[in-house]
Amino acid sequence: MSTRSIVIDTDPGIDDAMAIAVALASPELDVVALTTTFGNHHVEVTTANAVRILDVLGRPDIPVVAGAPRPLTREGHGPATSVHGQDGLGDVDLPPPSREVDTARHAASHIVDLLRSRPGEITLVPIGPLTNLALALRLDPGIAELAAGVVVMGGAVRSPGNVTPVAEANIWNDPEAADIVLGAAWPVTLLGLDVTRHLAADRTWLDSLAPIDTPGARLVADTAPVYVDFHLATEGFDGIHCHDVATIVHLLAPELLHTEPLAVRVVTGGLAAGQTVANAPGHLDPSWVDRPPVDVALGVDATEVLELVRDRLGRVPGTDDHRQ
Ligand code: RIB
Ligand code: CA
Repeated sequence: MSTRSIVIDTDPGIDDAMAIAVALASPELDVVALTTTFGNHHVEVTTANAVRILDVLGRPDIPVVAGAPRPLTREGHGPATSVHGQDGLGDVDLPPPSREVDTARHAASHIVDLLRSRPGEITLVPIGPLTNLALALRLDPGIAELAAGVVVMGGAVRSPGNVTPVAEANIWNDPEAADIVLGAAWPVTLLGLDVTRHLAADRTWLDSLAPIDTPGARLVADTAPVYVDFHLATEGFDGIHCHDVATIVHLLAPELLHTEPLAVRVVTGGLAAGQTVANAPGHLDPSWVDRPPVDVALGVDATEVLELVRDRLGRVPGTDDHRQ
């Protein structure tokens, strides 16, 4: 089996933790590094959380490189503690991080160096605001030709938003960065609320994790309650939406998602800031003509996706040990 090397750019984040756990339990993927950003929490917290997640999953060897503390140009919106908890990981007192992260190294530089050193081999998987990737493009625009792919959790193209009526959180957190990333010449797949809103892990699914004695299943089961409380309070749903893991599932089983090539631009001002607007063939406005299409996910086999997620959470990372 050929493995696919990926860098996960993340703002952990309860659903980020699930995505990282599934990625590390999947032998098809080689997680080369985690790069961190502000978003669900301050970058200092998301960076510590990235280390805590790797510690729990038994992979303290994976590099963590800290990145953007704030959006490219605008003021940040502050931590989403009502969604992910005061500590960003469900307030369940996961052990403190086992190591300090050298903040002299920036995620954007690390991304550039990895893509330059391994041209065509690295897939970027951003599951938070897109600031680090935009900064990497600014540092070295040529990297757009060197990425094997860019698989983004973000946006809401034909679906309502989740932080405003039209904007999804990762895009809303840095619209300018998102417009740069979605307009660059690299191969982008955009997995937004159009599909992740259907990845609704309900009480039955969550309870099915309880007897699975693996680090990933325990991590998700332990951190989920705060995230469930958010979904109960906002939607009356006793469960969680599994947003970020959609990127990992797309890498493992792309047949479970339906995508269409659409040019996507991001609204950067006014009431609709953070909205992802997709064109359709025939739109002739000059600002769309040169915009590269991205593969926008518009359909998903949610049942199969959630089954695959549970299967991978039942594996012990780095082993053939499979517990269900
Ligand atoms: O809108 C969902 C996205 O925002 C996910 O990446 C979640 O972790 C938050 O960052
Ligand atoms: Ca995230």
